[in-house]
Amino acid sequence: MNISVAIDGPAAAGKSTIANIIAKKFKFMYINTGSMYRAVALLCMKNEVDYKDINQVCDLVKSMDIYFKNDRIIVNEQDLEDEIRSVAVSNNVSNYAAIKEVRTILVDIQQKMSAKYNVVMDGRDIGTVVLKNSPLKFFLTASAEARARRRYLELNNNGILVEYNNILNDIIKRDYIDSNRKESPLKMAQDAIKIDSSGLSIDDVVKIISDHIKRYMAELKVI
Ligand code: CDP
Repeated sequence: MNISVAIDGPAAAGKSTIANIIAKKFKFMYINTGSMYRAVALLCMKNEVDYKDINQVCDLVKSMDIYFKNDRIIVNEQDLEDEIRSVAVSNNVSNYAAIKEVRTILVDIQQKMSAKYNVVMDGRDIGTVVLKNSPLKFFLTASAEARARRRYLELNNNGILVEYNNILNDIIKRDYIDSNRKESPLKMAQDAIKIDSSGLSIDDVVKIISDHIKRYMAELKVI
């Protein structure tokens, strides 16, 4: 039986940083589902496909061969990891991610990956939909300001110059769309463990999650 770890939470809560470390530590595969929705938004924007044109969006998604290589997203043999982090993609991704048909296709790919490998998956609907039977579910959150500060530093450190207020507004807007959409809205699974990371270091959060995983693996007698 494969082990699946689900990490959900609002925008810029630190999910990908934490999920990446956990995956390396336990030698699980890291699947950043947000990257998949970002790739959909990027390709649609490049091809001038509006999110309201559901048929065209779906045709495009069906033509996408998506996989991860060295934690970078590859679509139709093209590395899109850098481009999907742009502010323009961040501003538009939630509209594409709210489309039911898009979610059905991506969730299917994600579930097939978790059937094949031990995975750490992060996103918005992992504990509630994609890995709803996993006993290892975490909901990572922090205040909007703490999250905006972290994302601001991350982008500027990577040479993407942004204004703090734009980042804060994007985060608030995205959280609103993600939490209020009809299809698989962002919400904590009933059996998820909630971690507010506002006053915690990365190491603190990694330790909390690792301890739960170790306990579970010891019960299964796999460590
Ligand atoms: O890294 P950040 O928190 O900014 O966002 P992300 O994880 O890259 O996700 C980008 C967007 O994709 C989110 O704002 C959601 O609209 C969407 N998403 C989703 O709907 N379901 C997921 N499982 C993951 C992401």
